[in-house]
Amino acid sequence: MNLLERLGIKALHRLDPEQAHALSLKALNSGMMPLSGVFTTPRLQCEIAGLKLPNPVGLAAGFDKNATALAPLSRAGFGFIEVGAATPRPQDGNPKPRLFRLSDDAAVINRFGFNNEGMEAIALRLANRPQGAVIGLNLGANKDSEDRAADFATVLAHCGPHLDFATVNVSSPNTERLRDLQGKEALTALLNGVMQTRKTLARPIPVFLKIAPDLNEQELAEIAEVARDTGVDAIIATNTTLSRDGLTSSHRNEMGGLSGAPLFEKSTRILAQLSALTDGKIPLIGVGGIGSPEQAYAKIRAGASAVQLYSAMVYQGLSLVTEIARGLDELLARDGHSNIKDAVGTNRKDWL
Ligand code: FNR
Repeated sequence: MNLLERLGIKALHRLDPEQAHALSLKALNSGMMPLSGVFTTPRLQCEIAGLKLPNPVGLAAGFDKNATALAPLSRAGFGFIEVGAATPRPQDGNPKPRLFRLSDDAAVINRFGFNNEGMEAIALRLANRPQGAVIGLNLGANKDSEDRAADFATVLAHCGPHLDFATVNVSSPNTERLRDLQGKEALTALLNGVMQTRKTLARPIPVFLKIAPDLNEQELAEIAEVARDTGVDAIIATNTTLSRDGLTSSHRNEMGGLSGAPLFEKSTRILAQLSALTDGKIPLIGVGGIGSPEQAYAKIRAGASAVQLYSAMVYQGLSLVTEIARGLDELLARDGHSNIKDAVGTNRKDWL
């Protein structure tokens, strides 16, 4: 992190977190922020579900919910970008305040509840997306929808032509009962519907499934089975947690999903369990608490083929992305791996 970035973060942290976030998106779009471009090496180049990534460090969903900063984000260093969540109709989300910084814990709690401008506005922006970047959309359901499962397919049908991948997100804790869709029968029906819709796209894209970290072994095993049976192309593990273990910040008891440093261990354990359950047959994307190259590498060695991050950027800025990509490259070289795929899952047993 350079001095300018340090000062910028300090200034942003004096503001209300949601305002600070809106301002960072504005700053990104203003062209005033220095952007590093995408760091890539033959060691970092990889493929997930047929998508060729210049590096395995992705932007997690929720940072650019409305796809308003695609152009600058495509030059910020990420190997792939996930925007959204998008729901069929626009919705306001939960009342404010709904985003909290837990600085002492290097964490964030959010209870946004899928606030977004809706799939039509988002699709228009995606239609003008920068070429060359790998861009996906996190699919969500409207809170007041009569058929939430159908919402995922609706958003995919509408936005799919402009996407490289789409993620079924049934793991946000901020829409009441959404996580119930992770149950075996409900999830099978939902994913079958989404897969049917994918077939109708002129260019069928990979469909990912994003899961919660708060799942027991049996639930996880069922999800792995459903993912395999329905042909999900990759699983993203994990979304935010309801757990509040070990926190010290004053906001620790706010309702919502916790992300950032305290999520690292829990989400990595889930990732490793999932890797064991799927036996490497479904690619996994590791998310949760990554704030250093070592932590990104730990996710890869636990079973992830690629990673995503969000919360650590709140504390370490956007330069963290390239720092992680560079550091990963060095760690792979140190361990004698000529490509990242050779490191995937090599240390899974330590997390089980
Ligand atoms: C999120 N996350 C998220 N995930 C998702 O699938 N759809 C979404 O709309 C959002 N929205 C969202 C908003 C905010 C403010 C945060 C902090 C997070 C979860 C995110 O993509 C990621 O899974 C977790 O935050 C864990 O990663 P980090 O933040 O610990 O790197």
